[in-house]
Amino acid sequence: MSEIDKPFFAANWKMHLGPAETSEFVRRFRELHPPRERGRVVFFPPTLSVAAFRTAAEGRPDLEVGVQDVHQDAAGAHTGSVSAVMAAQAGAVWALAGHSERRREFGDGDGLVTAKVSRLLEAGVRPILCVGETLEERENGRLDEVLARQIGAVLDAVDAAELVYAYEPVWAIGTGRTASPDDAANAHGIVRREIEAHGGFAAAPILYGGSVKPANIEELLAAPGVDGVLVGGASLEPDSFAAICAAG
Ligand code: PGA
Repeated sequence: MSEIDKPFFAANWKMHLGPAETSEFVRRFRELHPPRERGRVVFFPPTLSVAAFRTAAEGRPDLEVGVQDVHQDAAGAHTGSVSAVMAAQAGAVWALAGHSERRREFGDGDGLVTAKVSRLLEAGVRPILCVGETLEERENGRLDEVLARQIGAVLDAVDAAELVYAYEPVWAIGTGRTASPDDAANAHGIVRREIEAHGGFAAAPILYGGSVKPANIEELLAAPGVDGVLVGGASLEPDSFAAICAAG
């Protein structure tokens, strides 16, 4: 992974923006955000909007696209699911894995996340592994342990250098409460230590996620060890996400 990965801006649209809204978003975003020489901009629309995204982003290879989730199996009787291979066929070059909403709402535990990451790598899709502690875990002094467990489970099975990482404290997601630059720097240090303990590439990007917005992007990107951001709510409007992507 090279310097081209930094700063790394990722938009997680969650269950927002269908195909028509996606086309409109990209049309406007292209005007607001001309290609930059370095850094990455990656969008995670709902799977059903990936095709619309690609059509609308034609001629702009700097606007990359991925999926928010895949099934852990290559194919089979899994009503409602999509596989990593299908995601690749649809043009997804990135995927999220282990987002806290998947962990909480859908029971994606460490084993399942590891299986999904393995499938994605087999399919040639690059995973962004999301990790982070709940407020209760943080208050009980378990930050190190939780991050080490979530990262270790995956890196015991796959090559650490293949991944991008996102530290997303659960208490900061969608709450308007952002980790302070010091908290982010501290947690990113723990994530980096775990990556290196598993023989990982020292320059693997680590993104911060949790209530990132135009007003706090500069101070977060300036925090030691923060290589980019994963943005939910503030990525749903082209103006606000373009303001974020202009930073760094
Ligand atoms: P948020 O979401 O920016 O709305 O807090 C971040 C995420 O869940 O990736």
